[in-house]
Amino acid sequence: MATKDKLISHVMDGEPVGSRNKVTVVGVGMVGMASAISILLKDLCDELALVDVMEDKLKGEAMDLQHGSLFLKTHKIVADKDYSVTAGSRVVVVTAGARQQEGESRLNLVQRNVNIFKFIIPNIVKYSPDCIIMVVSNPVDILTYVAWKLSGLPRHRVIGSGTNLDSARFRHLMGEKLKLHPDSCHGWIIGEHGDSSVAVWSGVNVAGVSLQKLNPEMGTDKDKDDWKSVHKMVVDSAYEVIKLKGYTSWAIGMSVADLVETITKNLHRVHPVSTLVKGMHGVKEDVFLSVPCVLGNSGLTDVINMTLKSDEEAQLVKSAETLWGVQKELTL
Ligand SMILES: NC(=O)c1ccc[n+]([C@@H]2O[C@H](COP(=O)([O-])OP(=O)(O)OC[C@H]3O[C@@H](n4cnc5c(N)ncnc54)[C@H](O)[C@@H]3O)[C@@H](O)[C@H]2O)c1
Repeated sequence: MATKDKLISHVMDGEPVGSRNKVTVVGVGMVGMASAISILLKDLCDELALVDVMEDKLKGEAMDLQHGSLFLKTHKIVADKDYSVTAGSRVVVVTAGARQQEGESRLNLVQRNVNIFKFIIPNIVKYSPDCIIMVVSNPVDILTYVAWKLSGLPRHRVIGSGTNLDSARFRHLMGEKLKLHPDSCHGWIIGEHGDSSVAVWSGVNVAGVSLQKLNPEMGTDKDKDDWKSVHKMVVDSAYEVIKLKGYTSWAIGMSVADLVETITKNLHRVHPVSTLVKGMHGVKEDVFLSVPCVLGNSGLTDVINMTLKSDEEAQLVKSAETLWGVQKELTL
């Protein structure tokens, strides 16, 4: 008799059910691994699956995490290039793809990553037909549209990480300026994740006190405090970090885990994430842009209708037209 059988008597008929709270991360690059470790350290799943096409890297990353199991509360960490390893996932985070090169715009990446998605997305749906897909790969708004189209899933189950990171960057910089924790600094960056994102100055507040009411010039060129430069720093920040360290990883990883937490714990928190915005704020095209969305274990169930100014809506409409211009050229 094996030692295990001497030690343990099985009392249940049959085998125990598998995981009930499985999360998959596709792509074990810098962003995928930062997301994975953030998800693990927040105890968000009972099983974590990793997928990549680079087998040695995948195996090495999985082993490295498994060796830390003693310090984690996740029972099972699995990895394979075969998508059967992802079966039964509740949330699938897609970080696979080529990343921006120094100075390269997110839009430039698009067709390279669409081709990768044509393989990834059908495989995800095959093994986890009830999952929520969270797209992180760039250009995230276009690739969320691509994932929605390729998956055939309803719109509430395909979410782009969108401006969740941009808003976090804004709140960090706002906190630096006001010497407050970002958690107490409220502000929303919406629209396109990237160069044409929109800072909603009318909503910037601390403890419900509108900063724009205190400083009516906020966000304009006339503003002596130059808050506009805070938004510019948000837009430039990815380029700057990539220039300095070659890629961005920690902040996006933590922001992904924050979104996964809201979904898996059914928190109904509101996040700026990318969703189908056709019919909202004057957008006419089938495009995904970030607006405040309610997330829970059904996915993205509701959108908060922001009271935007006409120039803010005009920027969203312009971004939508730009994205649609790219999307309609794609071969899906
Ligand atoms: N949305 C955001 O806020 C945000 C922030 C940072 C980075 N990103 C994006 O995330 C993506 C990943 O960035 P990174 O720095 O981790 O890149 P990376 O090059 O370090 O990792 C990408 C990984 O994807 C894998 N991959 C490629 N093709 C694949 C396939 N068909 N199936 C599975 N895996 C595949 C690669 O082998 C690699 O391990 C990029 O598109 C980047 O622009 C998004």
